[in-house]
This record gives sequence, structure tokens and C-alpha cells, in this order.
Amino acid sequence: MTRERRRQGPDTPRGAGPRGWRAVAEEALYGPRGFYRRPEGPAGHFRTSVHASPLFARAVAELLCRVDAALGRPGSLDFVDMAAGRGELVTGVLGALPDEVAARVRPYAVEIADRPADLDTRVIWRGEPPEAVTGVLFANEWLDNVPVDVAEADSSGVPRYVLVGDDGTERLGDPVTGADADWLARWWPLRAEGLRAEIGLPRDRAWATAARRVVRGLAVAVDYAHTVGTRPSFGTLTGFRAGRETTPVPDGTCDITAHVALDACAAAGPAPARLITQRAALHALGITGARPPLALASTDPAAYVRALAGAGEAAELTAPGGLGDFGWLLRPSGIADPLANAGTPA
Ligand SMILES: C[S@@+](CC[C@H](N)C(=O)[O-])C[C@H]1O[C@@H](n2cnc3c(N)ncnc32)[C@H](O)[C@@H]1O
Repeated sequence: MTRERRRQGPDTPRGAGPRGWRAVAEEALYGPRGFYRRPEGPAGHFRTSVHASPLFARAVAELLCRVDAALGRPGSLDFVDMAAGRGELVTGVLGALPDEVAARVRPYAVEIADRPADLDTRVIWRGEPPEAVTGVLFANEWLDNVPVDVAEADSSGVPRYVLVGDDGTERLGDPVTGADADWLARWWPLRAEGLRAEIGLPRDRAWATAARRVVRGLAVAVDYAHTVGTRPSFGTLTGFRAGRETTPVPDGTCDITAHVALDACAAAGPAPARLITQRAALHALGITGARPPLALASTDPAAYVRALAGAGEAAELTAPGGLGDFGWLLRPSGIADPLANAGTPA
């Protein structure tokens, strides 16, 4: 990476040279020709838990049923698939719910991209979550795509904004100041030259705004995350294109993503909030990855093969070093935590 040093703030308008990562990624991902407007959708480039296995949607359906029971089975139960991609999760959840619950569900997909032509007609497609949600708002791999600025400590140890050109070439800009500097000092201090951090403030605000919309029920954000003791020294900003990790270039051809400081989101959003691992959450929802008993292979070979495949998918969703280490940020509102039986902090 080339790094020239020049004094410049993060919001320099387009055409006037490199800008901060946040502004550049906003345009590259969500602008008129942005990556997330492409016809193939996110699933054309990477796999989330939603694509990895239908067991994930089944577990979310089970979670919705628990919230439904805690709410006293209201006449209308909201399920909000926040940052819905092509609506794969909401579709899977609708298919996995018992008929009696499905009949009362108001299913929403909240997305910047356009509604897919073949989506279940029951799904309400919107650009913003409803003002008042009674039920579950579930955001899988949303916050990592909320653009953030990147900071790097200069030779004097001063954090400066990293500026980036359209080709991905970086240089350092002005020192980080104001609320961004406060965020870094509290959540991700940079103590030596060359250390980098992603300034998570826009994600804190995005989560707080979305979580507050849940008047009664549960808000959940699931993402690859780090917490204050485990921040990576050089940040995590990266790109994805056609199934491969790539250098992040803000030209609309690749995803631009960075792990989420979910502990900062938890502190910024409405209380009470709790952070657990995906492994703990899915175990509590009955997804264990246990292999079927070998005896089943002789009594019902087809059922054995099906159960084995399911166990493999469950193992992927809960794998250490993989999806299982994702964080689930939970914020119940007006009900007891429906995953109180899932203990492990993320
Ligand atoms: C990584 S994809 C995840 C899609 C899906 N949730 C999944 O897990 O497969 C991120 C999605 O978030 C959407 N997105 C980002 N910011 C958003 C916002 N503020 N409102 C609605 N959708 C948003 C993007 O358009 C993209 O489809």
C-alpha cells in the first residue's frame, strides 16, 4: 500500500482527491452504481449463515416463537429482516414457522437494494425499519457493511484519518478529532506508529437507532466482531468479490467490510444489551451439530444421511474459528431475555 502524507479531512468531496474510507465506501456500496445494487446480490459474492444452511432460519424462527410466547401471542407479530439482502432470511423464517404463528406474522425486509421480483408476496419490502416493532428485528451481517472511517497512528503516535483514492491507494490525512477521537480513545486506542483502527461510531448509532424501534420484543445484531481485549492491531478492512477475499477497492466491484466492535454498539444502544457467541445462541435454540446415532444408518439409511448432512451444516454454523465465533448482540425490550439459557459471553 502506498501512503503519502498530506493534510486533508475525511469528507473532501469527490473529484478533489482521496477521501476518508467512510464516504468512499458509502458511495462504492450504496451509490447508484454501488456494489449492493448489483443484480446478483450479496449471495453472488459471499456466504452468510443464512446461505450456509436452512438451519439458521429455523433457529431464528424458533427465536421468534419464543418472543411471541413472551409477548403473550399478540394478534400481529413483527419480524424485521434488517439489511435483508434478497430476503433470504425472512423467506426461510416464514417457511419454518408453525402455521398458527405464520398467520399472525407481519414479515418485513429492510433493504437499500430493490425488491426481488420473485419474493414471497407476504413480505413487506422497505428502506427503513417500521417506527414501532412488536416482535423481532434481526440484523444478520448488517453492521459490518455500515461504512466507517479508518484511522492510523502517525510517526508521533497521533491517529490520523486514512484517505483513499478510487483505485484503493491510501494516504494519511488530518488528525482524528471530536467524537471520532473520543470513540477511538474509549474503544480502540492507537498507541504506536502504523497501528490502525476502524472508527465504529456510525455503527453504534445505526444499531442504537434500529434497536430503539423495538418497542416490545427483541433486537438482534449478528456479525463478525471483536471486543476491547481482542482488537486487531491493524484493523480488519477488507474486500470480497466472487467468493474471494480481496484488497478493498472502492470502485463498486467488491464488498467493503470490517469486523464490528459489538461491545461499543452494546454500550451505545438502549439497555439492557448482552453479547453472546453464535455458537451459544444456536445451541440454546436447539442447533447442536450432534451426529445421529449410528444405529439409524441400518434402520433408516435415508434419515441417517439427512441427519448427517444437518449435523454438518450445524457444525459449520457453530464452528470455532468460523461462524460459531460471530457475536449475537441481544437487546430485549419489555420481555425477559429469550436466550437467557445461552450463557457464553462473546
Ligand atoms: C452482507 S449483506 C447481508 C444480507 C443478509 N442479511 C444475509 O445475512 O445474507 C448486507 C446487506 O445490508 C444491506 N444494507 C446495508 N445498509 C443498510 C441500511 N441502512 N438499510 C437497509 N439495508 C442495508 C446491503 O444492501 C446488503 O444487502
